[in-house]
Amino acid sequence: MTIDILTIFPEMFDSVLNASILGRARQAGLIEIEATDIRPFSASKHKNTDDYPFGGGAGMLMMAQPIADCIRAVCDKRGAPCLSNLEPHESADVKRIYLSPRGVPLTQKLAQELSGEEHLILLCGHYEGVDQRVLDKYIDLEVSIGDYVLTGGELGAMVLADCVARLIPGVLGSEESPQDESFSDAGLLEYPQYTRPREFEGMPVPQVLLDGNHAKIAAWRREQAIRVTQERRPDLLNMATLTEKERRKLIEESAEQHDSRGK
Ligand code: ADE
Repeated sequence: MTIDILTIFPEMFDSVLNASILGRARQAGLIEIEATDIRPFSASKHKNTDDYPFGGGAGMLMMAQPIADCIRAVCDKRGAPCLSNLEPHESADVKRIYLSPRGVPLTQKLAQELSGEEHLILLCGHYEGVDQRVLDKYIDLEVSIGDYVLTGGELGAMVLADCVARLIPGVLGSEESPQDESFSDAGLLEYPQYTRPREFEGMPVPQVLLDGNHAKIAAWRREQAIRVTQERRPDLLNMATLTEKERRKLIEESAEQHDSRGK
């Protein structure tokens, strides 16, 4: 997979792209990620990338021209079909994403879908946003990383690139498997984990994890995952894959809690 990030602050990506798992995956040739500076594509004398909004209002907007030229240049370089004469959504080989609080929420499911793409282009906005025309013509999808407003799309692009990249086969070592973690297929949050020592500041590791009975360990972890999800994100339980027995137990427990509160 190739991820091109279009930004007016490419230097923000230096450490993120070179460190840890992403750095290793890039070196191993499993993924290519490049940050491209939008500013040199500006046709204006002073390489401006922003201007005042028509109709007035606070702040500045990113202009369409430098972004459109930057997207075209990146597509040409990769041989991707995203020239301006194509309609939005027409190109199959590349997905062009604008990071914005207005976008669809980034979820593990969306990350999984995007990890199957060959080429992602991530556009980072700044100031009060981007001229709508460049979004209409060149962007396939707007993605938000949460219900809050950042100063720009760069942190969003890093989050998206990171969570998509780790789903690409080979990027995580087998010891870092994405199978059992929060938001995996079962839709549950992750169970608690422990490592050495067996006792830390008076707190022992749960005995079941030390006994070597793998069936009991799996059952304990499953129970804990359901408990943590119920406590912290009960909204996820509606969509989670639970057995009839597990659902019945949850209903019984919540009825018991309801009764004990009523007493
Ligand atoms: N840019 C500003 N806020 C954002 C958000 N919440 N998600 C993605 N990009 C953004």
